[in-house]
Amino acid sequence: MTVFLNGEFLPLEQARISPLDRGFLFGDGVYEVIPAYAKQLFRIKQHLQRLDNSLDAVRMANPYSDEEWQNILRELIAKQDYDDHTIYLQVTRGADNHRNYAIPRHIESTVFIMSSKLEAVPVPQQHLGTCAITREDNRWQHCDVKAITLLANILLRQQAVDRGCTETFLVRDGQVTEGAASNIFIVCDGTLFTPPKGPMLLPGITRDLVLEIAENTGFPHQQQSFSVNKLFTADEVWLTSSTREIVPVISVDNRRIGTGEPGEIWHEFIVAYDHCKQQTTTYNRLSEELP
Ligand code: PDD
Repeated sequence: MTVFLNGEFLPLEQARISPLDRGFLFGDGVYEVIPAYAKQLFRIKQHLQRLDNSLDAVRMANPYSDEEWQNILRELIAKQDYDDHTIYLQVTRGADNHRNYAIPRHIESTVFIMSSKLEAVPVPQQHLGTCAITREDNRWQHCDVKAITLLANILLRQQAVDRGCTETFLVRDGQVTEGAASNIFIVCDGTLFTPPKGPMLLPGITRDLVLEIAENTGFPHQQQSFSVNKLFTADEVWLTSSTREIVPVISVDNRRIGTGEPGEIWHEFIVAYDHCKQQTTTYNRLSEELP
């Protein structure tokens, strides 16, 4: 597998970083996960904008311009022999010559990017839906920053996996914030709800697209906090992320959601989402082919 490390494309086996890299020592860095369909990057401008916001929030300079990022990502994609990609991109603060909490002044960030094959969830499996649990949100107060420091998220997600579920929905002060690695939507009496953006959740790119679909189709929607009780009594619950897209959740904490099957509204939205993917890929491909 060819990866990108600090300006070079090289086989994964040859990629080396210093053990003093602050990403390794402190989890001092930020990341993005970007899907590409038919070798075309999906929602790339939005992902690069969020990367820039994360870097800014942790006082790191952006090592590349948007155009440079896009050229690197396209080259990496071209080097892989599959069409649909999950691109993982991380920027750490780099390696100093000793371990020091204070931010060193003159070190260069470490940029690592890899691609893995994005395996589409087979349609019959999508239609089975998934199960989730709820837990107290014990993460920090800057969840809008896509930081590589993910120990809390890992431990929260694992509690779901231990119980045969695939996601943990997080609750802060009685209000649901998001999943351990996803955003959350509920449908109640014909209205779509998702918690509003703020420091307690990641502004998901998929979340924004779902809201765009609601806006464009005139489906009633509100960015509004909701309680765990409202979650339990919702007609539909979905989780969203760039790698999982929109997944219907049919049970939370062993309580059945709605009819216990993926809902009709979810079905409408996943069709619209697929349509957006196809439109973007065709548009990008045509723009690349233009002289
Ligand atoms: N995570 N909230 C959290 C905490 C996340 O980690 C993610 C995605 C999302 C959804 O964001 P988006 O729609 O932009 O993917 C929300 C990625 C996929 C990950 O860490 O692998």
